[in-house]
Amino acid sequence: MTAHKMRIDQQLQDSLAYIRRFTQIQPRIGLILGSGLGDFADTLENADKIATSEIPHYPPSTVEGHKGYLVFGTVRGIPVVAVQGRTHFYEGHRIDQVAYVVRIMDLMGVKKLIVTNAAGGVNPYFQPGDLMIIVDHINFLFRNPLRGPVVPPEPRFPDMYANYHPPYIELLESIGLELGIPLKKGVLFVSTGPSYETAAEVRMVRRLGGDAVSMSTVPEVLVARARGMKVAGISCITNLATGISATPLSHDEVTQIANRVKNTFQKLVRELILRMDKTD
Ligand code: HPA
Repeated sequence: MTAHKMRIDQQLQDSLAYIRRFTQIQPRIGLILGSGLGDFADTLENADKIATSEIPHYPPSTVEGHKGYLVFGTVRGIPVVAVQGRTHFYEGHRIDQVAYVVRIMDLMGVKKLIVTNAAGGVNPYFQPGDLMIIVDHINFLFRNPLRGPVVPPEPRFPDMYANYHPPYIELLESIGLELGIPLKKGVLFVSTGPSYETAAEVRMVRRLGGDAVSMSTVPEVLVARARGMKVAGISCITNLATGISATPLSHDEVTQIANRVKNTFQKLVRELILRMDKTD
């Protein structure tokens, strides 16, 4: 065993040992809650809330509007874990640290993951407040959390086909229709931030095939897919990206709009959990 692998394994074991002292819940579904979307975790039943700052080796969260908690709980009896206050690359962490929680989740038995984020709309048909089913992503972080020695069971060259599990995309579409929640579909383009894009960069994103821009999600999805987890992704379009909108952007605007669609978002996620749990 390499020193690196021993180190990661040991770190994960330390983290798990700490977590298990505070919860009996064995989650089947994991959720990563984006900017302004964290309140979903407060709706879980039988919740055990663990501050991530107390978990050994867990990278600290530093963003306003992002509380750092792992919340274990149930949704109609289905055991889940939610990350309230995710870790971002722009905070200065190594890219593999940003996805650390996904390895923890996998080791706890989570095989299904819901990733969410706030994103700027690049597709001209998108409006602030829209919810977008993520169908694919473009990794413009130019970093990969899987770089370095292989961490089994992750393969050296993980396949990236159908990263966003097609049956989950279909589930989301039917939930949208049944609950009367209009949903967009699109490709998420992710760059490092923390500055928002320039208008010229947004034109580039559009030409390269992105429908929405964000600063997160990709690291977690790469690790989840390498570990064979099935992923569903939802972006909350909190603003029109620079240049598409005529006004300057602020983080306040992002959290305000996320807050406005909070109830709809929570209804969608709740129903998704119920239906995901019934599928393989
Ligand atoms: N760009 C990048 N990330 C974002 C945006 C944006 O316009 N809105 C919310 N997160």
